[in-house]
Parts: sequence; structure tokens; C-alpha cells
Amino acid sequence: MAEGLSLKERQTAMEKIASEVRVCPKCPLSKSRTKAVPGDGPVNAEIMFVGEAPGFHEDQQGLPFVGASGKYLEQLLELIGLTRKDVFITNIVRCRPPQNRDPERLEIETCEPYLDQQIALIQPRIIATLGRYSMAKFFPDGKISKIHGVAKKEDGRIYYPLFHPAAVLRNPALREPMEEDFKRMKKLLEELRAAEPAKDDDAPPPPPPPEKPQQLSLF
Ligand code: URA
Repeated sequence: MAEGLSLKERQTAMEKIASEVRVCPKCPLSKSRTKAVPGDGPVNAEIMFVGEAPGFHEDQQGLPFVGASGKYLEQLLELIGLTRKDVFITNIVRCRPPQNRDPERLEIETCEPYLDQQIALIQPRIIATLGRYSMAKFFPDGKISKIHGVAKKEDGRIYYPLFHPAAVLRNPALREPMEEDFKRMKKLLEELRAAEPAKDDDAPPPPPPPEKPQQLSLF
């Protein structure tokens, strides 16, 4: 989907997806939401984070991870030299479930095409899942306690399961493994960059090869 599109065209396509999400009527969560939360970040991000579902603050603001979990996610990004402006952040479900209950299968399945379209547009080098609901999309049989921080390379991309930041805030014993997982993710990103440098989306076409210098004839 992103192939052949300029950065500007990709941004326009992303805004179109976001506009659809904001008025999406497809599942019952649309009735109780304040604002839907399409996702946030550059359309050419190298890392895409996929969380669970908006909570109270996200539902109020229409932005992902802006509450306590979001603050912690920002600290983790800082630890590896990134800010939230460098990454794309979204959720497996785009509207807040009442009382922050777990998202239901119908809600996840209904919302899934939005995620698939965003992935196709962003083409991230790494998709990092936050928590078990987004993990289940890419690691159907995975157990987070076993596979967190274990990269899966598929279709030229890395899928990387992480604990949910809220789970780490509730359980301080997970802080150190979470930080180690983030540091490992940064290393993986550097390796991917070294193996395949980024294409500059809007780079001008390369200049034509220089013409042969004209031979000056003295005779
Ligand atoms: N938790 C999530 O999974 N997503 C958010 O956007 C906020 C909190």
C-alpha cells in the first residue's frame, strides 16, 4: 500500500483512516466512547507500538497512551534515546471499553482492519506489542511471561512482544525485564538499519551521471 506513494500521500492516506476511525459505528463501543483514538505518530515511523485499548484519558483526548501508562512508555522511549514523536502508537481496539474492561473478541475483530491498513501504510521495521491482546494478533499461542523480548522475524519485519506498561506499573518486579527488552529492541533497530538503510521517501531522483568532459582539441 505504501509502495509508490510519496510521504505526503501516505500522510493523507493515514489521515483518511483516522477520519474513518473517529466516526466508526461498527461495534458497540462506538456508543459509549467520548472520542475514538485512531493512533498517533509519523507515517514513516520505524517502530509501531500496539497497545490494548484507550482508557479514561485517551477517550477524553482522542490520543493514545496519554495517562500514567503513557508517561511510563515515554520514559522507556527516553531510555533508548527516542521520544513519542519518533514512533507510531496505536491500540488493537480504538474505543474505550466501559470501565476499562478487557476488549472482547468482536470488538478486536471489528477494529482489526484499521490496524492492518495502518501497518501497510507505515511499513514499520518493528511492531512492538504492548500486552497480551495485541500480542495475540501476531503470536497466537504466545505466553507473555515466556516470549516478552523475544523477536520474531517475518516478512522482513520484526514482531516484538512487550509487557503492557500498566502491568509493569502494577508489578515493579517487571521493571527491569521491561527496560532490558527496550534496550534489546533498540539494538535490533540498529541492526536492521545497518542491514537496510532507510529509503528517503521524498528524496529527489538521483542526478543524471555526469557527461563525459569534452576533450579540448588543440588541433
Ligand atoms: N492502555 C492502552 O493499552 N492503550 C492506551 O492508549 C492507554 C492505555
